Amino acid sequence: MSPTFRPLHPLYAAEASPLDLRSVEDAATLAAIRQGMHEHAVLVFHDQRLDDASQLAFAQRLDGALHSKTGISAMTGNRFGNEALTDISNLDEAGEVLPADDRRRQYGLANRLWHTDASFVEPPGRYSLLSARAIAPDAPPTEFADMRAAWDDLDPARKALLEPLQAHHSIAYSRQVLGFEFSAEEAEKLKGVVQPLVRTNPVTGRKALYLASHVSRILGWSLPEGRLLLLDLMEHATQSRYVYSHQWRAGDLVIWDNLQTMHRARPFDDTHQKRDLRRVTTLAVPPGAALNAAGHTAHPGG
Ligand SMILES: [Fe+2]
Repeated sequence: MSPTFRPLHPLYAAEASPLDLRSVEDAATLAAIRQGMHEHAVLVFHDQRLDDASQLAFAQRLDGALHSKTGISAMTGNRFGNEALTDISNLDEAGEVLPADDRRRQYGLANRLWHTDASFVEPPGRYSLLSARAIAPDAPPTEFADMRAAWDDLDPARKALLEPLQAHHSIAYSRQVLGFEFSAEEAEKLKGVVQPLVRTNPVTGRKALYLASHVSRILGWSLPEGRLLLLDLMEHATQSRYVYSHQWRAGDLVIWDNLQTMHRARPFDDTHQKRDLRRVTTLAVPPGAALNAAGHTAHPGG
């Protein structure tokens, strides 16, 4: 039976009716979920029993190609041995909480900045599917912001100014803003890509600001002027009326559209409490793009 979606916020985000995503394989149900993503941009599926393999498999059924290189884990590897599965936990290989000064923890702290996933590669990330395997006792929420509504509310002159602009995204930049240091070899591999500042959803026709803390500059603008514009847009787009705050339950799978939303993690006592979230991000591959034998597109950098 096709899922139904109950709104969680006046503008976007919805909760799906009960559905075991491990067994969703038919074209009609997958199409209904994709349509739900186009409309709501964030979908919450409770009580999932996903393991790593079934999470990866569902992401591929939903959207095809997977993002498989994220930041320094592309160079250091991750505890899952699969770069398509991104570790959003605070745990080491033995399942113990990372020490405060661990480099992986320091790197991951930038997830607390507003961002979109995998905007720093080409093609960029489309859907992120974040599975909550274990939740900390004081369970911090993940916050989302609706970049379509933020766009809609801009005045016409502002829209005309912004629409043709292009921005440079690099995951190294969002880390460097917080003072994280990269080796010359790492920096060379994390050069980033150029993306449009405004995107249009091909199904709904709605436009959205495409922002992230990964954005280092606006092409053709001086650095200070570009960064002031970006700060202004980030302030506008993250006003409380655009924000949905998701309170996690163990077993939740939350899917968000990185091309229509931003998100950020919130702080918790992460040097004492265990939290295990695992993310798979699909790629916004143009229709008909060739996939390699592993079902992934080839892409440079990050
Ligand atoms: Fe993220």
